[in-house]
Amino acid sequence: MTTEGRGTWGSRLGFVLAAAGSAVGLGHIWRFPYITGENGGAAFVLLYILCVALIGVPILFVELALGRHAQLNPVGAIRKITGNSAWKYVGYLGVAAGVCILSYYTVVAGWTFGYIFKTAFGWGGPHGQLTGNVLLNALLFLAFMLLTVGVVYGGVQGGIEKWSKILMPILPLILVAIILYSLTLPGAMEGVRFYLRPDFSAITGQTVLMALGQAFFANSLGMGAMVTYGSYLSKNENIVTSGLSVVGFGILISFLAGFAIFPAVFAMGQDPAAGPQLVFVILPEIFAAMPGGLVVGTAFFVLLAIAALTSTISLLEVPVAFLIDEKGMRRKVATWLVAGVTVLFGIPSVLSFGGSAFFTSLPFLGGMSFFDLMDFIFGAVALPLGGMLFAILVGWRWGMARAVAEMAQGNPAFMGLPGAVWGFLVRYVCPAVIFVVMLHQTGILRKLME
Ligand code: PHE
Repeated sequence: MTTEGRGTWGSRLGFVLAAAGSAVGLGHIWRFPYITGENGGAAFVLLYILCVALIGVPILFVELALGRHAQLNPVGAIRKITGNSAWKYVGYLGVAAGVCILSYYTVVAGWTFGYIFKTAFGWGGPHGQLTGNVLLNALLFLAFMLLTVGVVYGGVQGGIEKWSKILMPILPLILVAIILYSLTLPGAMEGVRFYLRPDFSAITGQTVLMALGQAFFANSLGMGAMVTYGSYLSKNENIVTSGLSVVGFGILISFLAGFAIFPAVFAMGQDPAAGPQLVFVILPEIFAAMPGGLVVGTAFFVLLAIAALTSTISLLEVPVAFLIDEKGMRRKVATWLVAGVTVLFGIPSVLSFGGSAFFTSLPFLGGMSFFDLMDFIFGAVALPLGGMLFAILVGWRWGMARAVAEMAQGNPAFMGLPGAVWGFLVRYVCPAVIFVVMLHQTGILRKLME
């Protein structure tokens, strides 16, 4: 199949912004601050950076090299280097993860929409009033899905790149404005101290697991999103520096998000360890009580919505690229088809917050909700698993010599020591570390050590 008609990035900046947009999402602004607050503050930040440097960056390079080499979606790319072997299922896992993550991620993304209006118009009422209202929840979910479709419909340059260029620069502007406001509230420094107190005693096996999982989710790794985005790159692009910019931007936004949230939480005497609830339950209360909270609060949810949208775009693009490349489908048809399937898959997640007693508390899983189940399987397990398989595939099957040669196109200096270090990380460190962490996650390690 020719690469004509698939699309390519119009500029290097366009690619960096689109990939950073995929990376920076709810995982950074919603999840990172609260897991940092709960898991040792600055100690967790350091652990996270270590995971990104040792595992995240090598896997990102693996995905980008594979994508650019093949100029195809994950399934096609893997088929191109391994023929019709079982390895292609790693690609299918990625395509399936794209649909499944999109199906529940968009539920939360829809809330950001709801909260923009809720905050701007000063509508009170608890969080459960929004999420428990099935019709409203479903409408917000559909609205966010339609927005995502609207962008992906436009193609690589006319949709994804164009909107990333418009939306991504707004993100740090809003974030910095909120931080400046938040830091000037009385008692703000307490919050900064809580966020960053380096508590190394909080680092346990569980914390390492959280940090590694976050390194995958937050950088959109392990499911071929970066293979797909890499496939729209031209051969003379420097993937090394572009990839590092994407990761650096993500770490910066993650880190800054805590400075927007915790000072305000402390200034208003709220509970910083509120966990996942922090953003949707505690923050709206804070905004409602705070001088100027209406404007700052609305800006905050616009920020979350933008971050989520540039991520849902990439989740949708993976299965769409698969259908275009492998099934010869037209982009518009593929986009509607995937969106339709995702909406069906999303229904149980929409109903997971009180809408249906069954999906809210699955009887056979000790009361876990369908939404949490999806996040566990696809958000927590499938991404590291996919990442490990991508590392083994490129490190041992495709071979580091070919992979390094691909990386060196556009960055000849990668041929020497950097390539050797990368090869070592991809072949040994990534698979081994992920394997051990997954054993731990499934409780097998604990049983073995008893
Ligand atoms: N990186 C996104 C976030 O942090 C989520 C995501 C995961 C997007 C996997 C694409 C692929 O919110």
